[in-house]
Amino acid sequence: MKHCIRQSVHQASDLVIIPATTFKEKPDPNGLVFGTVFTDNMLTIEWSLASGWEKPFIKPLENLSLHPASSSLHYAIELFEGMKAYRGVDGKIRLFRPSLNMDRMARSARRTTLPSFDQNELLECIRKLVEVEKEWVPYSTAASLYIRPTLIGTEPSLGVKKPTKALLYVILSPVGPYFASGSFSPISLWADPKYVRAWKGGTGDCKLGGNYGSSIYAQQEALELGCQQVLWLYGEDHQITEVGTMNLFLYWINEDGENELATPPLDGIILPGVTRQSILDLARNWGEFKVSERYITMSDLTAALEENRVKEMFGAGTACIVCPISKILYKGKHLHIPTMENGPQLTTQFLNKLSDIQYGREDSDWAVLVS
Ligand SMILES: Cc1ncc(COP(=O)(O)O)c(C=O)c1O
Repeated sequence: MKHCIRQSVHQASDLVIIPATTFKEKPDPNGLVFGTVFTDNMLTIEWSLASGWEKPFIKPLENLSLHPASSSLHYAIELFEGMKAYRGVDGKIRLFRPSLNMDRMARSARRTTLPSFDQNELLECIRKLVEVEKEWVPYSTAASLYIRPTLIGTEPSLGVKKPTKALLYVILSPVGPYFASGSFSPISLWADPKYVRAWKGGTGDCKLGGNYGSSIYAQQEALELGCQQVLWLYGEDHQITEVGTMNLFLYWINEDGENELATPPLDGIILPGVTRQSILDLARNWGEFKVSERYITMSDLTAALEENRVKEMFGAGTACIVCPISKILYKGKHLHIPTMENGPQLTTQFLNKLSDIQYGREDSDWAVLVS
């Protein structure tokens, strides 16, 4: 029994902090390309079946030394998370609903046979890392510090099996404004059923590296066709699932004449986004229109467009919070989505509400203080 507990727990109180003694220059957040600049330190925690979790370390960012047979390199036994630390208008640094990221990370670990871990202890270690790197959290309410927890199989064996060795690490990267101009720029999408992002019984509801590596080919084709991102479809009826690496929302007058905010249900092929959950929670709390987790097909959308029932369509995710959609290339036709003509009123309302919480303009128990 003792052994089992040891398998799943590492203690933040055991954390060893040996921080960097040389420091990189902090970049201007406005000119940053996503995920290209990293802070001075990282968190690492090693795991083995024989000894369980070792002590967590915060130490200077360095290259990993991996056996070339490591299972993460061959079979993508790997998962990651994406969250942010925000410097508020009061100077305090906050995380946004980080326990939802820890929950999702634990589910990803289970699905990919990587070791379980104590979510609260890991969150505490992440909080400490951000505290050590607090000067890297941009002094801007348009920028943030991206946090990338990662768990990889390091088993030095070519056997296709549950790994007996793993490494959990967390790296940090300052990120600038998503919309460089400071105002929304809507995106165009390519919708073609020939590629699918996820399928029933697959891993689309987990944040596994394999889901993303295999999506790039379709993303390239979208770019070649003059679209910015892929609108992922699924099934014979061309269900709309997600957009690029964002959850999708449609605000429309539905088939029954009701104002409705709709997003596809979590049926195994949708990533349960923290932003998605927050938008649903806010909208249900506002109670101003119907809020549904329901299927939407391309024919539902085209019928609604013909009947002028579509108000706004947007992607939602940590990177941008919300991202308006203005065009979809489907079956050789460009469908115009009137999101921008409608304000975009609701999209902006979500952006303002969520960024007010993240940057401390509004008190909320969704914001967790780092320091
Ligand atoms: C496929 C996919 N869908 C949705 C999201 C949005 O999730 P979140 O709001 O937690 O960032 C992401 C981003 O991580 C994603 O990769």
